[in-house]
Amino acid sequence: MKVLICDGLDESGLELLRSAEGLEVDAPEQWSMEEIAEHLPRYEAMIIRSRTRVTEKMLQKADRLRVIGRAGTGVDNIDVPSASDRGILVMNTPGANAMAAAEHTLALMLALSRHISQASQSVREGRWEKKRFLGTEIYEQTLGVIGLGRIGSIVADRGVGMGMEVIGHDPYITPEAAAKLGMTWVELDELLGRSDFITLHTPLNKETERIINQSTIAKMKAGVRIINCARGGLIDEEALYHALREGRIAGAALDVFSSEPPANNPLIGLENVIATPHLGASSIQAQTNVARTIAVQLIDYLLRGIIRNAVNFPNISAKAYEKMRPYLILAEKLGSLQGQVSPLVEKLEIEYSGSDLEDLPLEPITQTVIKGFLEPVLSEKVNLVNAPILLRRRQIELITSSTSDTRGYPGMIMVRTSGKEQVSSARGTVFPGEGPRLICLNTYRLEAELEGINLILLNLDKPGVIGLIGTTLGEFQVNIANMHLSRAPVRDRALSIIRIDQELPVEALERLRQHPNIISVQLVRL
Ligand code: NAD
Ligand code: MLT
Repeated sequence: MKVLICDGLDESGLELLRSAEGLEVDAPEQWSMEEIAEHLPRYEAMIIRSRTRVTEKMLQKADRLRVIGRAGTGVDNIDVPSASDRGILVMNTPGANAMAAAEHTLALMLALSRHISQASQSVREGRWEKKRFLGTEIYEQTLGVIGLGRIGSIVADRGVGMGMEVIGHDPYITPEAAAKLGMTWVELDELLGRSDFITLHTPLNKETERIINQSTIAKMKAGVRIINCARGGLIDEEALYHALREGRIAGAALDVFSSEPPANNPLIGLENVIATPHLGASSIQAQTNVARTIAVQLIDYLLRGIIRNAVNFPNISAKAYEKMRPYLILAEKLGSLQGQVSPLVEKLEIEYSGSDLEDLPLEPITQTVIKGFLEPVLSEKVNLVNAPILLRRRQIELITSSTSDTRGYPGMIMVRTSGKEQVSSARGTVFPGEGPRLICLNTYRLEAELEGINLILLNLDKPGVIGLIGTTLGEFQVNIANMHLSRAPVRDRALSIIRIDQELPVEALERLRQHPNIISVQLVRL
């Protein structure tokens, strides 16, 4: 499998990837976006940092691509919906550079409060301007933190440590959780009105884009200072420019810009602005961390199927994956069986029971059932990432539930499909050491392996049917590998699942279907 490294990745991560058996790593010297798009169709995986923008256009021909690894936090440079549509997993390394970004924020806050950058430049130019660079202390000043996630909470904690009064706003964090970090949770307007320093630590998305704009700036205390070490798009740069020029905002320290590098950005020329070239994550430790983390995650996914830190798929730890693996196989087989026996489905129901499944994340199992269900019917690539999207697109309702009815099995999955014409249910379990088994198909109880080519035959419970099947298959030189029979509780019908060694010719199927005692015959490949 080929892995393309698009942006610089620390040697420690490259080494791990290169030494993984089965991976072939290409790390060209900074290809342009056009070059990446041109070569991407040859790769199963790509690793990027913040330089590469993964657009829908770039992904259009990337049919082999299975995973995009972001060595860093923000995934706003990746078109995640397009990747999901194509079944491409997107993973990042949350937290691996959090300390670096938090410390850079603090460095910028201190530099801003004491004009470090401008003063240093002045000395370099031969001046000694002590009066010009009168600063402000941060001690007992109010620090407003917007976004109390990994980086925001470190900044808040250090702010408290330096004697600041820290207030924070995050709609997804409770005031109690904020209090544990030693700060007070406040509404955004209150934070704007009270803070001497405001620092941004939210992701860039539709909700947060330009969260700092003309109207929010108008609510800020005069003389406030702003630090942005998150994403440039969080600030309306024109509004910030005017507020800085007018002195309403005393200073800004910016590590990130709406467009990077910030060509012709008037903010850079302002005396009260200090800027760094997106250096938040640029510490030796953070670069080693993100490179190693993304390399290990990618290897785990490509070579072992373990999914961690995916932004478009639930996480599966190695421990959970080990326990889950036989149930993932069962889930895919049951889904596939139902996809083949029941066309025109309007509803797909999945029911889980048993202690084996109790502590496992069920979402990946559900997505595996859907994958199995859709794969036989769709020509496009179906995988765990795009399966739920494709199901919704076909307007099939998905219902999942758990029940305590275990029927004595340690773990059981039931997949029921219903449409206008029919309802069909398949129930399965895992026999320790033996693998998945179908234990009930509709009302018929059995114990069939879910493997290979199978004939599912429903007949009237009359003598001679089994003989007929044997003779017909024999005539067409098709060998029977094994056979499972089950009678309906009322004993008028019977169901058999016959595993055969070769494909059955259409004429043989037709011959069986025409027999008066045979109600239906379906060929299912598992
Ligand atoms: P995180 O996901 O841990 O935290 C983000 C927090 O923002 C979450 O707690 C979330 O609830 C909160 N949030 C979401 N919407 C909000 C809103 N409308 N108002 C207030 N809070 C909101 O992320 P993180 O790892 O702390 O990263 C924070 C930011 O820093 C991201 O934008 C990331 O891309 C950026 N980052 C930049 C650098 C750099 O080099 N400058 C390095 C690392 C991360
Ligand atoms: C991030 O989101 O992790 C940062 O922007 C750092 C980076 O990768 O440049």
